[in-house]
This record gives sequence, structure tokens and C-alpha cells, in this order.
Amino acid sequence: EQVKEMQDKLLAWYDQEKRLLPWRENKDPYRIWVSEIMLQQTQVVTVIPYFHRFLEWFPTIKDLAEADEDKLLKAWEGLGYYSRVRNMQEAAKTIVEKFGGKMPDNLKDLLSLKGIGPYTAGAIASIAFDLPEPAVDGNVMRVYSRLFCIEDDIADPKSRKIFEQKVRETISHDRPGDFNQALMDLGATICTPTSPKIEIDPLKDLYEAHKQGRLEEFPVKKKK
Ligand code: ADE
Repeated sequence: EQVKEMQDKLLAWYDQEKRLLPWRENKDPYRIWVSEIMLQQTQVVTVIPYFHRFLEWFPTIKDLAEADEDKLLKAWEGLGYYSRVRNMQEAAKTIVEKFGGKMPDNLKDLLSLKGIGPYTAGAIASIAFDLPEPAVDGNVMRVYSRLFCIEDDIADPKSRKIFEQKVRETISHDRPGDFNQALMDLGATICTPTSPKIEIDPLKDLYEAHKQGRLEEFPVKKKK
């Protein structure tokens, strides 16, 4: 069946080619959270040294909740968008007060935390807790638009739910975190916005857009 074939090919490729990144060393939800926030507006290579230092300075959620503002902002210097780290500290305080210092393991409670939206909640739920939740960003929308000829405008915020629904229907329930991270890697390195490397793409024969000779028509991105 098509879905099983897609999952198997994507995960086999990920097992071979996944990038060895520090936040992939274990499933500690705090580490996953820190990495996903840092990666929101910053490239992987830039994030890596910040990630290590942040965890040295604030090894636990409690340490982050109690951190001095000066040290917190110093840890973020150069990453920009300081609201990201301020929101993280506010969320850390909530986690200490309401969740016993442990990152909540369900989508609803994750979404209640400052700075955690559907993407970050889905990433933490799937990567740290093995829940089959989507984590839809631009990369995932691009890959899925090409797989299923999804014509919804990826620049329209209303489209995200369409893609989330399609990911829910197709995500691996055995390895949801790896599945989501494989989509991120595939979109970042092979199924790229321009000149996708279709010949070496593990999903080459599965893209409906490619079968129809319409690969370059996807994703649909309307100018506003
Ligand atoms: N970009 C956003 N999240 C990521 C992750 N977990 N691994 C690699 N790149 C990412």
C-alpha cells in the first residue's frame, strides 16, 4: 500500500542519511524543546554551539525558570528574536508551577505554554513522546504538496490544517518522531524549493506531482 511504502522508504533513508545533530542524541523533552525554539528562525549550523552552551548554563527546566535575565539574554545574544527566550522562561515557570517541573506529554498542555504553537507542540509530542502528531513547517508543506498534489496556497495560514490532516493520515505510528524529522531533513536537503534533487530522492516514484510531470507546479504559493 502506498502509505506504508512511503513510510518505509522515508525511514530507511533517514536511517542511512540522517544528520547527526546534538538534539538527536536522546529524547529528553527539554532538549527537544530548546532545539525547536532555536531552530525556528536560525539555521542548524548556527544553532549547534548555542544549543550546547544553553544546556550547560541551564541544564534543567527549573534552572531555566530561575535564571537571571542578564544570563538568559546573554545565552541568546546573536540568535535574535529575544521574545523566543523570554517566552521559554515564562513557559518554564509554568512547567515548574503546574506540571511539577516535567514537560507535559500531551498536545493540549503543550499548546497552553507561552511560545509553543502547533508546530513546536507537534515536534515535542512526536520526537520526545512518540505521539503520532504532525509538525508542519514550510519543508513539510513542500514535500506533501508534491506527494499529493495539494493545491492549497502554502503562504496562506489557513492551509496548515489541510497539511496537518494529511500528515495525521500518513505518519508512521511506530516512529512518529523519526518520521517528522525525516520530512524536515528531506525538505532541507533534497526536496528543496528550487532544483529538487529528484533523481536521488528516496520518494522519487511516489510524488503524484512527478508522476503527472508537474513537479515544478508545487508547492502553490500565491503572491499577496
Ligand atoms: N528544523 C527544525 N526542527 C529540526 C530538527 N528537529 N532537526 C533538524 N532540523 C530541524
